[in-house]
Amino acid sequence: MLSKKMEKALNDQMVFELYSGYIYLSISSWFKTQELPGFANWFRVQAQEELVHGMKFFDYLLEVGGHAKTGAIQEPPLTFKSIRAACELSLEHERIVTSNINKLVTMARKEDDHATDNFLQWFITEQIEEEANATANVARVKMVENDGRGILMLDAEMAKRVFVPPAAPAEA
Ligand code: FEO
Repeated sequence: MLSKKMEKALNDQMVFELYSGYIYLSISSWFKTQELPGFANWFRVQAQEELVHGMKFFDYLLEVGGHAKTGAIQEPPLTFKSIRAACELSLEHERIVTSNINKLVTMARKEDDHATDNFLQWFITEQIEEEANATANVARVKMVENDGRGILMLDAEMAKRVFVPPAAPAEA
């Protein structure tokens, strides 16, 4: 049984995941304006992944008898000082997401809510990858940021990322 406190916290994180998607859409759009379609693609794919994350919370809330409340999503920054600044924002944001997920697990454990604890473990694993990807982006941009050719090579690499939709749950 989901407590009201846990329901509210899961709803907040659902909206935050959707906000993550909105940030990445904004970053993607900005990269397109900078004529860096590969970076734009990478962050567009990231935005699609965040929608999947948000939907996981949405579905879980409904599955356990809660109410998924689609609250307001705040406006993200629309422009960025540099390629590096946009990538650093992404890393900072992922660190906040990780901290949020950790707090949710702590709350679930305090409440002996093992179902929610179990649900959140997917996100614990996912955040390792999310932070690793964002860290790699910052490191690679730092390596080449004063070299136009290096940026273009990195852009070509970022263009290869493809969104892989989650597998549909098997029919019972
Ligand atoms: Fe859903 Fe990138 O955290």
